[in-house]
Amino acid sequence: MRRAKISVIGAGNVGATCAHWAAAKELGDIVLLDIPDRVGVAKGKALDLLCCGPMERFDSNVIGTSDYKDTADSDVVIVTAGLPRKPGMSRDDLIQTNVQIVRSVAAEVAKHSPNAVMIIVSNPLDAMVYTAWKASGFPTHRILGQAGALDVARFRTFLAMELGCSIEDITALLLGGHGDDMVPLPRFTSVHGIPINQLLPKEKIDACVQRAKVGGGEIVNLMGTSAYYAPASGSVQMAEAIIKDKKRIIPCAAYCDKEYGVSTEKGKGYFVGVPVVLGKNGMEKVIEIQMDADEKKMMDESISHVKDLVGTVRRIFPDLA
Ligand code: LAC
Repeated sequence: MRRAKISVIGAGNVGATCAHWAAAKELGDIVLLDIPDRVGVAKGKALDLLCCGPMERFDSNVIGTSDYKDTADSDVVIVTAGLPRKPGMSRDDLIQTNVQIVRSVAAEVAKHSPNAVMIIVSNPLDAMVYTAWKASGFPTHRILGQAGALDVARFRTFLAMELGCSIEDITALLLGGHGDDMVPLPRFTSVHGIPINQLLPKEKIDACVQRAKVGGGEIVNLMGTSAYYAPASGSVQMAEAIIKDKKRIIPCAAYCDKEYGVSTEKGKGYFVGVPVVLGKNGMEKVIEIQMDADEKKMMDESISHVKDLVGTVRRIFPDLA
């Protein structure tokens, strides 16, 4: 059986950590790519990681490169290229630079791995997923954005800290864009089936919701750059679901038009954070849930922010409109 092939574009903190988690899970052979100026970093990190194999007991091959030919026929490509946030910046401040980077990366990926599923991690996430879609020409089910996996993991972590229980028993749901207006859903959150509101008072749940929303910024303020362990873990969780055709349900930025009332026109939709069935075809289904009026209002606001961001991309780069 052919081994799966995973390419990671960008050998910075997020990219290298994606390669790390993917190798540790022995998901397949891994190619870590960066621009020619940084090929030494890509090659060095790849070799360093490869030498963990005997200790961590994985047989994945890991190579570093700046040549897209080495990524040919990847099953999954994780795109982490782009500038990270610095303290005081919102994810949206990165749009101008990162659209140009993600646009050229997505075109190269499409050329060399025309059948891959692309997972975008670069920020501002929702606009970068749109950019990658336009630049690659991929069908919508093979373009996904990593955000919900991370955001929901943060929400679960903060709930577990509050409850003093294992994170393993907490399931939660979170929708919307990957901005501070993301929509954590306590009504769909439980601890081994016990609704969270039977275990924690509203103020404590609200505090966990708020901390999840700004969790990325909390880390930027602490260490001066974007988080990378958890964003990479979220990306590799998605890659694993795709490579192993697990049909896992994970919130991702996925293409919606009629779903969640995102657009009334077919083909004129947006990529927004929704629960998705992930399998070998990428996004196999968007799951629609019934929201109450407050949840729907928050979701609509988050969707409208995503539309504004995409509007900015279209305005600055008319060729992506
Ligand atoms: C975060 C960045 C990666 O949420 O968007 O940490």
